[in-house]
Amino acid sequence: MTAIDNMHRTHYTNQIELGLLGQRATVAGWIEDLRDIGKVVFLTVRDVRGVAQAVVSGQSINIIRDKPRQSAVIVSGLVQSSKSKDFSLEIKADAVVILNDAIHPLPIDPTGRVESALDKRIDSRALDLRNPKTASIFLLRSVILKNIRHTLSTNGFVEVNTPKIIGSASEGGANLFEFEYFKKPAYLAQSPQVYKEQLILALDRVFEIASYYRAEKSHTVRHLSEFLSVDIEAAFTNMNEVIDIAELVLMNIFSFNTSIPESEMNVSKPLSSMLPKPSLIPKPKFPLKRLSYEQCVEDLKKQGENIEIGDDLSDASLRVLGEMHQGFYFILDWPTKLKPFYIKEKENDPRLSHSFDLQYGHLELISGGQRQHDPNRLKERLIEQNLNPDNFKHHLRVFNWGMPPHSGWGLGFDRLIMALTNLDNIREAVLYPRDVDRLTP
Ligand code: 4AD
Ligand code: MG
Repeated sequence: MTAIDNMHRTHYTNQIELGLLGQRATVAGWIEDLRDIGKVVFLTVRDVRGVAQAVVSGQSINIIRDKPRQSAVIVSGLVQSSKSKDFSLEIKADAVVILNDAIHPLPIDPTGRVESALDKRIDSRALDLRNPKTASIFLLRSVILKNIRHTLSTNGFVEVNTPKIIGSASEGGANLFEFEYFKKPAYLAQSPQVYKEQLILALDRVFEIASYYRAEKSHTVRHLSEFLSVDIEAAFTNMNEVIDIAELVLMNIFSFNTSIPESEMNVSKPLSSMLPKPSLIPKPKFPLKRLSYEQCVEDLKKQGENIEIGDDLSDASLRVLGEMHQGFYFILDWPTKLKPFYIKEKENDPRLSHSFDLQYGHLELISGGQRQHDPNRLKERLIEQNLNPDNFKHHLRVFNWGMPPHSGWGLGFDRLIMALTNLDNIREAVLYPRDVDRLTP
């Protein structure tokens, strides 16, 4: 039997409130500070929700007096009012157990008093998360994922899971990771594109939240080799209808305290209300601006950018656009040749397509559009883009089984978190980022 078998956590530190005065509370966490003033030791204990103070006296002093900071501890006692400047209440400890020592020197200082470079923090991510500022990003991720699931589920979307090990490229393009799969070549999925399109044939509306893989050789603050994507696909819809859904997803994120049902509040409320900085950016004005690609190019030309209709928007151009349109906005109707084979051309002008991106300033968050649902045209488009239709035969045959018009999008979730919390490097928003230089921890 270990010592903790006799002591059970009764409260998180943020639950030590006035109503508990005179009652017993047991908190568990890590030693943040020890202040030894002889007859008593003031101990601050941090857990995921905050920090509490305990006053230790008598025999227990010997248990903690020389213990290294960040050691795991459980403390029990009666709640009393406190005279210290940081706490109005404290626990008058009558039992303290050290559950495991933290061995110093630690690789980083999780209190944040000594700052460390991002690379060093990621090397020791589990410890970095004891810093409430870091933890808040990941608590927010959890709350927002739950919120997005809720929005999509209540709008008729079925959550699905599609394979990440695939036999042929799902999108085309060169940034595929290839590996050997029982002596055959296989790839890591770049997106669920072909599967989500197939699934609407019967399930009508689907969504998937999963990691995808792109062999991104570039060193940027917004590309990773592994990223989390929220993908949707909806039958019998056009582009504007799925743009409306993207807008609804965003709108609900900004009102997450009221949109999450009461039963889920217990979890989400304490987490979201305790978030220290970085907190959510202010709520944008809805509906968001919907600009056409052609309008953007005209505006860029007026700003002196060297760009013509048909050109992709370079990083430099996007930065200029981002200055002109701060916050969230959509860019609609991109040139067909810039978009993947599955995007549908405009009926009245096939040079343009039913496609859109959602931008946050210069940062692309979503790509989506209406899909080509005519199997013959889809095959032609594959050939136009130098892709081999044979590699897509399992996909193409599905279109002969009564494929309805459909639309969808993919949202880069890590980038969304970057935007929502004003981070300037995607690695801050990902627990264990993967890039050209990083495969550990
Ligand atoms: O723009 P992308 O490549 O579009 C697709 O994958 C389509 N299948 C989506 C659709 O339904 N039409 O990727 C979608 C989003 C991007 O807008 C971006 O936010 C994110 O995924 N993304 C990345 N995020 C981090 N690192 C990378 N390497 C990313 N590549 C794409
Ligand atoms: Mg894109």
